[in-house]
Amino acid sequence: MKDKIIQQIQDKTAVIGVVGLGYVGLPLMLRFVEAGFHVFGFDIDKNKIYQLNQGKSYIKHINQESIFQALKTGKFEATWDLTRAREADVLVMCVPTPLGNHHEPDLSFVINTINSLAPNLRTGQLVSLESTTYPGTTEEEIRPRIEKQGFNIGEDIFLVYSAEREDPGNKNFSTQTIPKVVGGSTKSCLEVGVSLYETIINKVFPVSSTKVAEMTKLLENIYRAVNISLVNELKIITDRMGIDIWEAIEAAATKPFGFTAFYPGPGLGGHCIPIDPFYLAWKAKEYGIYSHFIELAGEINVKMPDWVIGKLVEALNNQGKALKNSKILVLGIAYKKNIDDTRESPAAELMEILHQKGAIVSYSDPFVPVFPKKRDYYFDLKSVEITTDSLSQMDCVLLVTDHDHFDYDSIQKNSLLIVDTRGRYRHKNFANVVKA
Ligand SMILES: NC(=O)c1ccc[n+]([C@@H]2O[C@H](COP(=O)([O-])OP(=O)(O)OC[C@H]3O[C@@H](n4cnc5c(N)ncnc54)[C@H](O)[C@@H]3O)[C@@H](O)[C@H]2O)c1
Repeated sequence: MKDKIIQQIQDKTAVIGVVGLGYVGLPLMLRFVEAGFHVFGFDIDKNKIYQLNQGKSYIKHINQESIFQALKTGKFEATWDLTRAREADVLVMCVPTPLGNHHEPDLSFVINTINSLAPNLRTGQLVSLESTTYPGTTEEEIRPRIEKQGFNIGEDIFLVYSAEREDPGNKNFSTQTIPKVVGGSTKSCLEVGVSLYETIINKVFPVSSTKVAEMTKLLENIYRAVNISLVNELKIITDRMGIDIWEAIEAAATKPFGFTAFYPGPGLGGHCIPIDPFYLAWKAKEYGIYSHFIELAGEINVKMPDWVIGKLVEALNNQGKALKNSKILVLGIAYKKNIDDTRESPAAELMEILHQKGAIVSYSDPFVPVFPKKRDYYFDLKSVEITTDSLSQMDCVLLVTDHDHFDYDSIQKNSLLIVDTRGRYRHKNFANVVKA
């Protein structure tokens, strides 16, 4: 069975099913098509399926043309019918792994997906989980659900974990050039998994178990969360001391070893860094261990929006203005620059605090024309076009996400006050710019 699936993968006759066609699954699916495989894209969101089958993209940084080209090959089909999973030889799960209300892992999407797939599995398939999750998920949640259908893992069905390392909007790396770590439930599983990823990724790094592969992804994201919280705390300290943290980071980064630059901001955003560390913190409690670093990093990062608002209030005050009834334009609401993803973006929290304190809030983001529906925030707002006129009417521009698209010179020249959380104006001391 193992040799057969490896052969199918190598000669590209294996049919690939990518389950969950969001920020991770969509580019992955396109990469499999590009590599010459026949690919099914599965998603429960019918709107996404309709759009894909019409050659349309619903993610700003994934261009329409690539979807159109994929359709033209005749080797790609999108469907919400998960019973067709049996037509695929490989099933790759890329579904969300958010947090619940009490910062606990919400595995409901992963579990619903495997529950839908399980009755449609057949002998000879490879199943790969790519969603970010705590060590043990593949063995404790996925494996038993497959075994319950009467399959032997490593003989009938091959099971691996291989986290996605997608960095949306990063033009220096693509799915193909980001190395991929793979762990298998058994040795045979690993062999099959490695053979799959080697067909689409330049460098595949096998590890000894699915748990190690799961931990690797969390290690990467916890490392980022902790280091970002560290520079955020240092920003607060250096601000009080009259030292520019950006200048200090730039100088420290000249050291050719032992230092990696991380940059401060208005708080953490995105679907990964604010969330993933808590998957490990939660699992660690099962072993009686409290994760100090993760909790502390979370605590510092969560407080950043309040600190930024404090700086903004002080800056307005220095101009003899109160925050109440001041017009504040939030520049950029995506969680990072040059993409349209607003998940967990600190902009929403900043806008909420401003609104609660009586400010008149508007925003401008070329990637997000309408303020998106969110679980905790609601603003009936559309992105404002930036003109010299609209800028001059604002009491303050709060720079939250520094998209390259913005004309920073013009914004600086035409605004009364700018509170800059991204160090965009760090190289000059402008009288109307306050670093925060
Ligand atoms: N976005 C990133 O930059 C990024 C980077 C690395 C890893 N990850 C991880 O990858 C995983 C997916 O993240 P994403 O950003 O692509 O999420 P997403 O929300 O953009 O996409 C997930 C897709 O899964 C679909 N889905 C949900 N339940 C389903 C089911 N039962 N069957 C079929 N489809 C289903 C949703 O409709 C959605 O289209 C998460 O675990 C995330 O932490 C994300």
